[in-house]
Amino acid sequence: MRVDSSLIHRLFYPQVPLVMAAQHRGRVSAMPVVSYLSVSEKPPMVGVGCMPTGFTCTLALKARAFSLSVLDRSQSDAMAKLASASGAKIKDKLSEAGLPHSIGRRWKVPVLKDALATIECRLAATPRFGDHLVLVGEVVAARASDAFSNSWDFNRYRPMLYTGWRDGLTFYGSP
Ligand SMILES: Cc1cc2nc3c(=O)[nH]c(=O)nc-3n(C[C@H](O)[C@H](O)[C@H](O)COP(=O)(O)O)c2cc1C
Repeated sequence: MRVDSSLIHRLFYPQVPLVMAAQHRGRVSAMPVVSYLSVSEKPPMVGVGCMPTGFTCTLALKARAFSLSVLDRSQSDAMAKLASASGAKIKDKLSEAGLPHSIGRRWKVPVLKDALATIECRLAATPRFGDHLVLVGEVVAARASDAFSNSWDFNRYRPMLYTGWRDGLTFYGSP
């Protein structure tokens, strides 16, 4: 069958969503992202495809920084909350979603207390492709829990595998 252009990204499913977060002048916002990639190893750089109208994207552009966090499948309710509302009218969207956080060790970005891994990024470039910006970040710090030791121990980390949105986040296999 012919695939409509609005559905092309669904051919990539299932995908592991990460939490992209930013803070600026007392405001904290975050959103699930699947359009991320590892751009460079030396220096370490990552990129995230963002809708420029999103509040988290706007905040990351103002702060010139963002973080990316890995959550376990058991935290899928919090991930769903981040997807359901815009941070535009919420002072601290992470806390509102039940995700306590503190400031990064190296950079002024939110670091989620219960994340299995967090990457702190300084914004390095923001190329535009069509209707999205790619926020390219230089990694200034990256930390992971004991579930990661050069690679993930999948007995201790159960990834979320996002398959789409049908009245909420849906996952591949059992929740
Ligand atoms: C699993 C999942 C992955 C998503 N991935 C992206 C993404 O990569 N880039 C993006 O701009 N929006 C993505 N979205 C949409 C945003 O998370 C959503 O629009 C969010 O409500 C934006 O919140 P904000 O306005 O507070 O930033 C995704 C949504 C879901 C549920």
